[in-house]
Amino acid sequence: MYVNNSWYVAATPNELANGNILARTILGHKIALFKTENGQYAAVRDACIHRQAPLSLGHIVGETIQCGYHGARFGTDGRCTHVPGQDVISPKALVRSFPVCERHGFIWIWMGDPELAVDESTIPKNLALLDAKPEMRSCSGLFESMRANYRLLNDNLFDITHAEFVHPESFGGEEVRFYRNAHQGSEPIDRGLTYEIKERSIHFRTHADSLGDEGAPLWRIMMAQARNIESWTGPLDFTMEVSWHAPCYTSFHIYLRPAGQPDATPVEFHDFHAAIPETANSSHYFYTVGINYGDENTLSHLAEETRNVFKQDIILLEAQQVSVGDLDVLSVPHASFSGDRLQLEGRKILDKLLNKERQEKSIAQEI
Ligand code: FES
Ligand SMILES: [Fe+2]
Repeated sequence: MYVNNSWYVAATPNELANGNILARTILGHKIALFKTENGQYAAVRDACIHRQAPLSLGHIVGETIQCGYHGARFGTDGRCTHVPGQDVISPKALVRSFPVCERHGFIWIWMGDPELAVDESTIPKNLALLDAKPEMRSCSGLFESMRANYRLLNDNLFDITHAEFVHPESFGGEEVRFYRNAHQGSEPIDRGLTYEIKERSIHFRTHADSLGDEGAPLWRIMMAQARNIESWTGPLDFTMEVSWHAPCYTSFHIYLRPAGQPDATPVEFHDFHAAIPETANSSHYFYTVGINYGDENTLSHLAEETRNVFKQDIILLEAQQVSVGDLDVLSVPHASFSGDRLQLEGRKILDKLLNKERQEKSIAQEI
């Protein structure tokens, strides 16, 4: 049901600040996430080995997490280091720990084979690209868990055709219809879409010269914000690059220029979305929004706008989950439209990874 051998966004650093221990369910596992006094991040199963009290109800003591019930302490590797009134501790006294790391403004967790966790190639590279642009102003956020399977959320983020109907006042303009006119390739084409499919990712780009009022309202708002003017009424040249990385990451990079000025510095808007599986019927949604213009107020305004847009999606996603019920999302009979082409390719990549892990597991069991 889940790809285990992958890094997943688990938290934002501020959720673990000031000794806060975070209880979060990820891929169906209850986890306690914390940061030691020396600043090391850690994640352990959120149940004490003694009487199963959630460790998230405890405290940070030095480099350990202390159970809030009888005071047993566990290191970042899960080993029990202290039991009150007891000199000898069995080396078997161990709570399961999970590899964690901090990258690109998020705390990531590895839920699979710990020996494979050294491979960071499953952390989407486009986040590193954003780090490399010092002119970008960015912020991260988290929505509470939503009552919808992560694959529904994945489909939603990678499907821009719904924007015309769900987000007409912000993201939904003529350019999202180009999705239905897709060709393989890496060069942007006017009023079309080119795409490339890789082993674990899909990239597409769409472009429109002289996009006017038929384009999404948000692009004109951004052009006006960047120039500090009331409104932008002229045509603009629009380029959007979208990347989806298995199992659950989508990023959008948008570049806007006044029409016919290919050398003008673009107004840029980048966002990154992580659809993290919580349980079979729920997900955590993390996002990052970045712009290359304006000030903190402009950024908060756009982050709020992103949040409002996503609230429109959540209504649909949670209602879809009710329709699907406890069935596997992908096993429900469904029709496919021409605009679903890349979304279906994404599903195929994910299924391939899931099957590979399933096969490896059954071979290991046979051995
Ligand atoms: S339940 Fe944790 S020390 Fe007893
Ligand atoms: Fe949406």
